[in-house]
Amino acid sequence: MDDGAAERNGRGEEDAIAGAVAALVARSMDHPWSVGQIGEALASPRACLVCQEDRDGGLIGFTLGRRVDRDLVEIDLVAVAPECRRAGVGRTLLEALLAAERGDGVTEFRLELAAGNAAALGLYSAVGFVVVGRRARYYPDGEDALLLSWTAEDAEAGSGRGERRRD
Ligand SMILES: CC(C)(COP(=O)(O)OP(=O)(O)OC[C@H]1O[C@@H](n2cnc3c(N)ncnc32)[C@H](O)[C@@H]1OP(=O)(O)O)[C@@H](O)C(=O)NCCC(=O)NCCS
Repeated sequence: MDDGAAERNGRGEEDAIAGAVAALVARSMDHPWSVGQIGEALASPRACLVCQEDRDGGLIGFTLGRRVDRDLVEIDLVAVAPECRRAGVGRTLLEALLAAERGDGVTEFRLELAAGNAAALGLYSAVGFVVVGRRARYYPDGEDALLLSWTAEDAEAGSGRGERRRD
């Protein structure tokens, strides 16, 4: 096989994924990441990405994390196309990411989230994340950030009890 062609095909596929993710982010979030930022994040060997496509192969949701340590993943983004929300896509994506990374030795997942993002807080709480801290006026618009964590212990202790706090 022509190595150059294989490399070019690989690069083209990466660019296509970054473009599809960026397009979904642009219509899902108020302060979306740029295509460049997403391409850079996806190119990292530490990136963990789970995607959901519709029947035609269009991207309808994804979650993107980073392996920051042997046993720790930080989740940077989760987004579902507006017309596909409240149908379990976000939950399926997060559960798939958790399962894949736990199978590879990860024991904790962390993220930060705008305190007023009720949909994301509801989603993360539904899959077992716990609020472990708050950064006052963390975002440029003055909104607080919540710090969330997932461990198997917390998830098992709180299953069925809705949103919980550990701070
Ligand atoms: C957050 C988001 C990914 C949720 O995706 P989704 O596919 O609609 O979520 P699901 O259908 O899997 O919901 C699972 C659970 O999360 C909670 N949830 C989801 N949306 C919610 C909302 N708008 N309000 C309150 N709880 C919500 C519920 O507990 C829900 O379970 P239920 O439907 O049985 O009540 C989606 O709203 C989104 O893309 N938002 C914009 C992007 C964003 O803000 N991302 C987070 C920061 S990176």
